[in-house]
Amino acid sequence: MTKLLQGDQRQPHDSGRSVDPDYLQKLGVIYHSVPEVSGVDSIATSRNYKNRDEITVSPEKMGDIYEEKVKSFFHEHLHEDEEIRYILDGAGYFDVRSEGDDWVRIWLEKGDLIILPPGIYHRFTTDEQNVSIARRQNRYAKRGC
Ligand SMILES: [Fe+2]
Repeated sequence: MTKLLQGDQRQPHDSGRSVDPDYLQKLGVIYHSVPEVSGVDSIATSRNYKNRDEITVSPEKMGDIYEEKVKSFFHEHLHEDEEIRYILDGAGYFDVRSEGDDWVRIWLEKGDLIILPPGIYHRFTTDEQNVSIARRQNRYAKRGC
């Protein structure tokens, strides 16, 4: 996890200032390594999630709209309820705003799951590999990013 500098959103933007998992916990971000999808189901059920979908973010799958889509996922936003994001394959970055208003960049790859708390500003992007296959789970909203 690194704090973010300016430039192409898919580059690592490693500021050299790392934060440890305790820092994420303080922000309310929960991380789990979940090797099997059934583990995601267990977490979602225990937290009363109602909705889920899967999305493949790649030029191969999305074609001409890929660049536009990746830019749209990178718009800073927040939700009124928590959300689960689980990487089924590929990788990607979730950026979350810290208390000091810095961006904290979290790189997730296959088997990584995060739960973003309600009200935290965040955004998503693929990394330089340009492939993210993710399961998105929201408690109430049908879709989300
Ligand atoms: Fe979101």
